[in-house]
Amino acid sequence: MSNTPDLFDAAPAGPASGLAAERVHELHRLLHHHAHRYYVLDAPEIPDAEYDRLFRELQALEAAHPQLLTPDSPTQRVGGKVLDGLTPVRHAVPMLSIDTETDTTELGAQRFDARVRRELGLGEGDPPVEYAAELKFDGLAINLRYERGVLVQAATRGDGETGEDVTQNIRTIGQIPLKLLDVEATVLEVRGEVYMRRDDFEALNARQREKIAGGARGEKTFINPRNTAAGAVRQLDPALVAQRPLSFFAYGLGEVQGWSVPATHSRLLDALLAMGLPVCAERVVTQGSAGLVAFHQAMGAKRDTLPFDIDGVVYKVNSLQLQQQLGFKTREPRWAVAHKYPAQEMLTTVQAIEVQVGRTGKLTPVAKLAPVFVGGVTVTNATLHNEDEARRKDVRVGDTVIVRRAGDVIPEVVAVLPEKRQPGAEVFTMPRICPVCGSAAVREEDEADYRCTGGLYCSAQRKQALLHFAQRRAVEIEGLGEKLVDQLVDGGVVNTLPDLYRLGLTALASLERMADKSAQNVIDALEASKQTTLPRFLFGLGIRHVGESTAKALARHFGQLDAIMDASEDQLLQVPDVGPIVAQSIHTFFQQAHNREVVEQLRACGVRWEEGEPSPAAQLPLAGKTVVLTGTLPTLSREQAKEMLEAAGAKVAGSVSKKTDYVVAGAEAGSKLDKARELGVAVLNQDGLLRLLAGGQP
Ligand code: IVH
Repeated sequence: MSNTPDLFDAAPAGPASGLAAERVHELHRLLHHHAHRYYVLDAPEIPDAEYDRLFRELQALEAAHPQLLTPDSPTQRVGGKVLDGLTPVRHAVPMLSIDTETDTTELGAQRFDARVRRELGLGEGDPPVEYAAELKFDGLAINLRYERGVLVQAATRGDGETGEDVTQNIRTIGQIPLKLLDVEATVLEVRGEVYMRRDDFEALNARQREKIAGGARGEKTFINPRNTAAGAVRQLDPALVAQRPLSFFAYGLGEVQGWSVPATHSRLLDALLAMGLPVCAERVVTQGSAGLVAFHQAMGAKRDTLPFDIDGVVYKVNSLQLQQQLGFKTREPRWAVAHKYPAQEMLTTVQAIEVQVGRTGKLTPVAKLAPVFVGGVTVTNATLHNEDEARRKDVRVGDTVIVRRAGDVIPEVVAVLPEKRQPGAEVFTMPRICPVCGSAAVREEDEADYRCTGGLYCSAQRKQALLHFAQRRAVEIEGLGEKLVDQLVDGGVVNTLPDLYRLGLTALASLERMADKSAQNVIDALEASKQTTLPRFLFGLGIRHVGESTAKALARHFGQLDAIMDASEDQLLQVPDVGPIVAQSIHTFFQQAHNREVVEQLRACGVRWEEGEPSPAAQLPLAGKTVVLTGTLPTLSREQAKEMLEAAGAKVAGSVSKKTDYVVAGAEAGSKLDKARELGVAVLNQDGLLRLLAGGQP
């Protein structure tokens, strides 16, 4: 449905072709509608990339037929509209927009540098321009006005000239100082982005899904962190805002009085940081286009592991004096550009809805998609989570849907475009029998998921159990991947875990597409996997609710497998992190004769580990303490810190509550740090953590 030049360009000069006029009219209608959904209601119906495509189509038509360009065209307005109910605020200094480079290759950076050099009158022999490169946060622009260091007003960007007063809402964001440290400025307007961290967003949606599963009416899951953050900031009720974990990064200035602003953008950000404002550490000062390209690539590679969404990077000429010399176009500065990354939300169509069976028998509806490039990879599957979610979103085969893939989260269908639905599309229903083995699928009370009751009779569960056991974090059998497991189970060669160790070279080599050499590699990998550790073995058994950290805690507490197998529920409850549900699950697992049999056979096949001395948690230095980790520590990875804490008997939790004893906060700590401060929980840095682990005062 793109602009078809041959049709329109063939129109005679003079009055525009009727077709072009019609399309322009339609694009006005569509863009006005979608801009309203996006800016005013914070509830877009189409992905940004689709909006941009329509916008560019209109721009192209207007360029080809200037007589069709009218003052009310969506291309003639930038930014949003003011929402009824919030008080308008006129910005002392307009809040500008920024030029965007949508070419996601290095060309984007090179073009910007070339333009800056040309406008500064620099020739080939002149030195490279110095740039400040930073991230383009995907949230909502906010102007914070501080008078004599005190936050007096917060406003949205609105149309750039007039925004909305959201002071009360912004005050609920713990990261935003209500008072700045040491400021000379009588007036200091700080500009930046309010956003929501991905983990905060996922946790919020998980809570929403639980509420919905529990029968709550009028609740919904949120589409993405950006809209959730924007919607929260523009809420009329600050109490509701406080329930949405928001974060903030400063990136610039508005009006300033009584302060001599540093000479470069990077120094300015350093100064804002020193005043107590959050500034993202992911920024560099660099020279010329090569430096920009390097930053774009480095951040592109890091994008998935950042704790928040970015939709690109921003390059700014570092010298404020050169910025002034370059000046502005109508709405954008000439000294800055946003260089995009591939969109994290795209439109595609649902070709089928399949139901997959997991290791624990959980049935997950998965949409099979027409391949689509989203978040930097080609996606063909997206989760619909469970029956309630699939029903609530009402995804049907043939539908056009928005797919989101951000970070390392599994791609998901976030919404359907109902107007694109084909007549006769059928409502999705969850099968009442397992699609793999035909056993009954049941949904337990208070549970959102259906489970296949087939257990190890179900080949899907058998396959998943083998893959779980063989994975790197369990006993690690290199080369035992999905394809091989499919062949082994479907061929009836392997049914249980011990069967793996009974595989002979001939049996393996006789499998289709298996060369002798690869068969020998599998045999070697199986042999190597026999020497393992108790936590890996325990985790590998796939006991429900026993993840890696619980397996470690069990091994530490009991020292030996037999002690775990024979432990009562009460004894299991002594282990840190083991509550009644987990204790019951472990106990039941080892009460079943067939599970004990599997363990015995594995031992008989030569699977072994070093057994240790029991070190009951109660005797460890941090026994009974709950610790939450947030942000990036200077030298320890989160995994390392967690491991050290658990070894000392502490429980490492995911969220901060009154029961938390310590929060260990590193760089870019988000809402968990705010929550800790709010509840008066002790906050440690890495040094404090190490002192605590050494048995001293933190
Ligand atoms: S500077 C005069 N820096 O991108 C330049 N903007 O249209 C003003 N944004 O919604 C913007 N990250 O909120 C700048 N590091 C960053 C940014 C950033 C995100 C947003 C901004 C606005 C849009 C620019």
